[in-house]
Amino acid sequence: MRILFIGDIFGRPGRTIVKDRLPGLVKDRAIDLIIANGENAAAGFGITPPLAEELFEMGIDVLTTGNHVWDKREIVDYFQMADGNQHSMARRLLRPANYPSDMPGWGVYEGRKHDVPFAVINLQGRIFMAANDDPFRVADKLLKEVKAKIVLVDIHAEATSEKISMGWYLDGRVTAVIGTHTHVPTADERVLTGGTAYITDVGMTGPYESVIGVKKELVVGRFLNNMPVRFEPATGDVRLCAVVVDCDEATGRARKIERMMVS
Ligand SMILES: [Fe+2]
Ligand SMILES: [Fe+2]
Repeated sequence: MRILFIGDIFGRPGRTIVKDRLPGLVKDRAIDLIIANGENAAAGFGITPPLAEELFEMGIDVLTTGNHVWDKREIVDYFQMADGNQHSMARRLLRPANYPSDMPGWGVYEGRKHDVPFAVINLQGRIFMAANDDPFRVADKLLKEVKAKIVLVDIHAEATSEKISMGWYLDGRVTAVIGTHTHVPTADERVLTGGTAYITDVGMTGPYESVIGVKKELVVGRFLNNMPVRFEPATGDVRLCAVVVDCDEATGRARKIERMMVS
């Protein structure tokens, strides 16, 4: 099975490049399953129900998120719409699994694609981020329950050391541990010794003439004067960042991980 994982889709520029480039990527690379991080889909801050559905309709099977998941409050009601509807679009949108357990939404999804069972787990780091539950122990707990051999983990985290540690911690137990959140792709994609594909950050899908997606003047200004400013998405130099993970359906182990940045 060949899995495409698309990094944080940022605003309209990010959504547009996915719409334009995804059909060609799926065809050229014989992609079976598509996962994307959508936490910045709504002008950089969160995701709305219509935007989630727009991304699902482009062919994305599962959307992960991260610290921006609650930025658009209507997403809370959307999560509630998925109650009892196991494979609805609303159920295929995830928030990090290590959030307080009574929060709306789910951090894991199990489904089938082309009749092959797969699971996606969304986790968030704790270094320079909100103090959530331990993502390592939450991963252990979820992996006891997951039945699929093919398991993709989005580790949405700031610190490279925390993400690399998660890669090694889950090595041999999941198909891939893929980092998101920093919006800067890293050049360390590899299959770890136990057979888990790993990358510290897949990178942003959005405008690179920016500071991690936001108009550069606004962020530079904020560093210069520390005054509050309303962040707006940039528009220039739009790129799609993703990885393709090739894995063995019988064992769930990765054979190969390839990083890509297309413009
Ligand atoms: Fe992000
Ligand atoms: Fe984030």
